[in-house]
Amino acid sequence: MDGSQDRDSKVLPETQRASGHGYEERGLKVPPGNFTGTGRFGRMFPALMPLASFTPGPVALGAAGGPMDGGSPPPNDTTQNNPRIRAGYTFLGQFIDHDLTLDAVSILERQIDLNAIHNFRTPAFELDSLYGLGPSAQPYLYQPDGMRFQLSPGDLDLQRNVNGRALIGDPRNDENLIVSQLHLLFLKFHNAVVDQATDPSLGAGERFLRAQEIVRWHYQWIVAHEFLPRTVGKAIAERALEDLPFTYPADAFMPVEFSVAAYRFGHSQTRPGYLINNDNGQVAAAALFPPDPTAPVGPGDLRGFKPVAPERRVDWKFFFGPQNTTPNPLAGAQDSKLIDTRLSTAMLRLPDGVVPPTTPDAHRSLATRNLQRGIDAQLPSGQQVACKVVPLRDRLTERQVWGANDMGAAVPGGAGGAPLWFYVLREAEVKARGLRLAGAGAEIVARTFAALLHADPASQVNRDPHWTPSLGSGSKFTMSDLVNFTEGRTGAAALASEDVDALPDA
Ligand code: HEM
Repeated sequence: MDGSQDRDSKVLPETQRASGHGYEERGLKVPPGNFTGTGRFGRMFPALMPLASFTPGPVALGAAGGPMDGGSPPPNDTTQNNPRIRAGYTFLGQFIDHDLTLDAVSILERQIDLNAIHNFRTPAFELDSLYGLGPSAQPYLYQPDGMRFQLSPGDLDLQRNVNGRALIGDPRNDENLIVSQLHLLFLKFHNAVVDQATDPSLGAGERFLRAQEIVRWHYQWIVAHEFLPRTVGKAIAERALEDLPFTYPADAFMPVEFSVAAYRFGHSQTRPGYLINNDNGQVAAAALFPPDPTAPVGPGDLRGFKPVAPERRVDWKFFFGPQNTTPNPLAGAQDSKLIDTRLSTAMLRLPDGVVPPTTPDAHRSLATRNLQRGIDAQLPSGQQVACKVVPLRDRLTERQVWGANDMGAAVPGGAGGAPLWFYVLREAEVKARGLRLAGAGAEIVARTFAALLHADPASQVNRDPHWTPSLGSGSKFTMSDLVNFTEGRTGAAALASEDVDALPDA
């Protein structure tokens, strides 16, 4: 245990069960994975030593009001807008996270033994969070026909039990209104594929499997050809997918460098509030979380775990499609926040519902949680990982970013190597103006995505490498196409796709 852990253990005496996004013991009530069983955690860089210490420690660095607090600008604020990434991709990123990884058992501030913890999700892009165990084992997720998902009456919400809890494959996908509505969009996408893209003369079982494969492959296409290049840049994405710099020695596992650090970059993209729709001429906008984190779950904010009122339905035109360059917020999609070392205050004061009400204040900061998880997982410093993955010619830039190889340049009074999660955010900020990941963070995310796609024997790249999308606009299939196909949007109502190559880069 290093010095910062000792110090923080005194500040945070109460050992805390991992957050369950509304569940006391995360994942223990979650159906484990899908048809193929669940996964393991492992290391991408097993030879690197853990970061021994850094100053300031996780509590001081991650505190509300501390160096990582980006404040709560109003929804129409433009100072933190990311012109490369629309707001919907933040929640697609969260949805992808919930497809790939769930550490249901680690206890905050306890060192973890990677061989002893289990990934309750399969580390594959196969939407186990959507399909659960399939129509035979979890029939309540499906309509009586065994082919289509069951939705709420009127199809505006996920189906829910009498307590308002969503009946879905992964409860985390109901944590906030936007990810909940995105889960609904994917359920509807599957149903639309059953209706429009499967042969009605086939039996129900065959139609379900055919639709599931079409959905998974279109989703994998978006992951590899839209989400990844948008997030890490085209060059790094293509190199990872083509050269496979990281592969698994045997079965696929979830690298902790990805799940505990690099892929948590999305916590920085989250805005303090969102414009949801302007149905019937009324603009619906709300804060993501309440200013008082102990406020009960109610209609005032965008916390999930409750039925969605019709006036709160998400209109995807405010989340996907081309950037809105006009001053009128109703003219198009909002941007995500920049990827930088600042988080919206809402993320540093996680409310009841997202964390259990018994959570001590310091553990309500998602930044503190991420930093502490990095210590618990014995992650190496960002500098060490960068030395492994950043080309030699770029090392000079690395030194300029990090000064004398410590946190000093990034945090006043900072010292020691940088925690990997913090380093990833700082790299994005300095090397790519917060528009996308860069350096070590980009490499970890791209290499993990590419390795997972190639390790899954049922993935599109393995089953049919020459396949191109059959729905929407074909080989350029994007989230806009998915929305258009699912919601039957045509003409002026259709969302346009963005050309990822033409987006502003670093
Ligand atoms: C509204 C937005 C979000 C909220 C409130 C949220 C909240 C959380 C919380 C409370 C945890 C558990 C933290 C811990 O104790 O270790 C977590 C884990 C995580 N989050 Fe988020 N998150 C959000 C969005 C995102 C996004 C956009 C991404 C990525 C693009 C992301 C990636 C992750 C990852 C990789 C984990 C670890 C999952 C595991 O292995 O169990 N999150 N998030």
